[in-house]
Amino acid sequence: MAAPVLAQSATQAQAAWDRSCARCHRDAAAVVAALPGATSDDRRQWLDPFLATHRAPDPATRAILVDWLLAQRAE
Ligand code: HEC
Repeated sequence: MAAPVLAQSATQAQAAWDRSCARCHRDAAAVVAALPGATSDDRRQWLDPFLATHRAPDPATRAILVDWLLAQRAE
């Protein structure tokens, strides 16, 4: 069951990115590469409150988007 749920989240995240972010940020991986924080947890703690006031106010959409963004950066 986990895989289809993840795939659906990724599709939703991609759609949210295309709708809300892509017109200003061309490359999601480049955005993630620029984030502060040594670990994925550090980056999440920075990114979530940042996006709350930067184009992703809806908590459910933001949660999916944050997971998807962080997954684009290897540790
Ligand atoms: C209207 C243009 C615009 C849109 C839409 C936009 N951004 Fe940004 N974003 C910017 C600008 C300009 C900056 C740099 C200045 C700042 O920090 O606000 C930035 C900064 C950031 C940063 C901080 C790291 C960096 O690259 O400076 C992140 C992360 C980010 N945006 C993610 C997103 C995400 C995710 C979305 C969609 C939910 C989004 N942005 C939508 C213009 C935009």
